[in-house]
Amino acid sequence: MNVRIAGTAGFCYGVKRAVDIAEHTAAEGICWCLGELIHNRFETERLSRLGIRTAASIENIPAGAVVIIRSHGVGDEVYRALKEQGCRIVDATCPNVVRIHNLVRDAAARGRTVIVIGDHRHPEVQGISGCAEGVLVFQDEEEINGWIQRRELPVDTPLTVVFQTTEVRSSAKKCAEILKKVYTNTELFDTICEATFSRQKEAVELAAICDAMLVVGDRSSANTRRLTDICRSVCTRVIFAETASESDLLDLIDVRTSCGTVGV
Ligand code: F3S
Repeated sequence: MNVRIAGTAGFCYGVKRAVDIAEHTAAEGICWCLGELIHNRFETERLSRLGIRTAASIENIPAGAVVIIRSHGVGDEVYRALKEQGCRIVDATCPNVVRIHNLVRDAAARGRTVIVIGDHRHPEVQGISGCAEGVLVFQDEEEINGWIQRRELPVDTPLTVVFQTTEVRSSAKKCAEILKKVYTNTELFDTICEATFSRQKEAVELAAICDAMLVVGDRSSANTRRLTDICRSVCTRVIFAETASESDLLDLIDVRTSCGTVGV
């Protein structure tokens, strides 16, 4: 069996940066992270052994604690609440996400309504939405079409559209085009992360020439789920695994015996 590992495999620079910041902060003493630092439970367990505690909400963080903001970022209300609790904030928000926050604040200051194309349950999108009042989130074309039909805002409303960093560019752009046709005063910022885009591009290229694809990552990661979907669109044998011991890996045995190629 031939194995081809994608050149972009591994943590993106935003996550690497957040992990570095967390390790340096933990070296000074116990610190807290609001939500898991990254969507990878093995890494979260390793970090907890270094003294980085995970809090599900602000209420679980003791007053005056050192708090790391993870790469997904948080909205303005969270910064305010942590400061009120006397916490020291160590901000590891990915610079790409910081850019989106600034775009949203700027658009709101110019009187525009902000629309995020992304998953409203995802912490990154919740953080972006928390940077201005009245931010709207749409996940797909269906949601946008439904909203347009309801005409909740007049068609001359100035709109500013941003994307969740891990969106698939072609689908996100289609959503923006639908909006632009009706809301002609729409400005668009393509905020999809290039690290994400190059992984998705490499995943689809690799999956297209391999007999099987193995996607390794945490089930709770939006990035990992998207990569799996993308590989499935061009390859009929896509296996998702969090660890090498997962039983699905046995499915690759016939690829091995037939000297096929597995992409990772
Ligand atoms: Fe990573 Fe930042 Fe992109 S966290 S996926 S480099 S937006």
